[in-house]
Amino acid sequence: MVKEVYFDNAATMTKIPEAVQAEADYYREVDANALRGLYDRGVKATEMLEASRRDVAEFVGAQASQIVFTRGATEGLNMIANGLELGDQDLILVGINNHHSNILPWTERHKNVKITKDILSDPDLENAKVIAMCGMSNVTGQSFAKDVLEARQKAEKAILVVDAAQLVAHAELADIVDAVDFLAFSGHKIGAPMGIGVLYGKDLSLLRPMHFGGEMVESVNYDEGQVVPELADGPQKFEGGTLNMGGIVGLAAAARYWKNLNRKAEFEKIDKLTRKLVDGLKAIPHVQVYAGEKGIVSFNVEGVHPHDTAQVLNHYKIDVRAGYHCAQPFCTCAGFGPVVRASLSIFNTEDEVGYFVESMKKVREDMGL
Ligand code: ALA
Repeated sequence: MVKEVYFDNAATMTKIPEAVQAEADYYREVDANALRGLYDRGVKATEMLEASRRDVAEFVGAQASQIVFTRGATEGLNMIANGLELGDQDLILVGINNHHSNILPWTERHKNVKITKDILSDPDLENAKVIAMCGMSNVTGQSFAKDVLEARQKAEKAILVVDAAQLVAHAELADIVDAVDFLAFSGHKIGAPMGIGVLYGKDLSLLRPMHFGGEMVESVNYDEGQVVPELADGPQKFEGGTLNMGGIVGLAAAARYWKNLNRKAEFEKIDKLTRKLVDGLKAIPHVQVYAGEKGIVSFNVEGVHPHDTAQVLNHYKIDVRAGYHCAQPFCTCAGFGPVVRASLSIFNTEDEVGYFVESMKKVREDMGL
């Protein structure tokens, strides 16, 4: 019997067993609301929250005081777009290679947004108040880490915001974190549970919180019918409401796992698998490969809609994603349209790539072509 081949890691990475275990253990052994209870388990929860923040900060290459826990990259980017105090005239330059999550929070909330095909040579680069960049394309696998560093040099004063949702599983972030003002990613893209993510802010005081409520305030004073909140300092100001503690300790476990890995060797392994996959696909007649880097390979089969290709592959127990990948402006602008995407993680193997390529040879025939 064929084992299932999971090639949809760009959508969500196969979970790291230690991360899943940490989340389950939290609810089995602690299960209290952090920052509130004064009983032992409540105190333990608060300690675990801050220890997790330190682990995640170390993984990212930042200070714990710069790490805000969010629901994921989308929420983090919305918090940035919503929280910066910008005037109607302030120019926001947004790269078209971004996922919708780093386009729509800007276009839906701000007036002066320019979508650009090439940030680095855009004539408005130096006039921009905010530059919203993609760290790594979820469609092509291309890394824009160097572009981010160059943008920093060219536009020293701009507020540089990076969506690191894909980059985080394929590069060390420390240099990028150093260069940018804000960065966001989701934990599930590095094998942590879903529903937990990170917003890094070099100077969090530039942001106004998006969520108001419990524990994001020091006090809420009441005087003559008026309430006057005194907001908490640091990350807590952005974490109103009960925290996803299972997710947070799961994310910290994933961060420790990655820190202890030989990441360079793992990234090289993924590059090698990617090349094998691309070469295999290119050798199949009627298959057009658009891009293939860092574990992400986008392609189409002539005469077959990408959704049909994905369904045929499903019959062979291979999981891929097909469509616009929430990056429709980019897919349109690049001239691809919808594509099939195979995306690999550190847990994939050469045998799986070999089986995938053999199965791909049967797609057209299975479609009656
Ligand atoms: N952004 C994720 C993807 O690329 C969900 O599939």
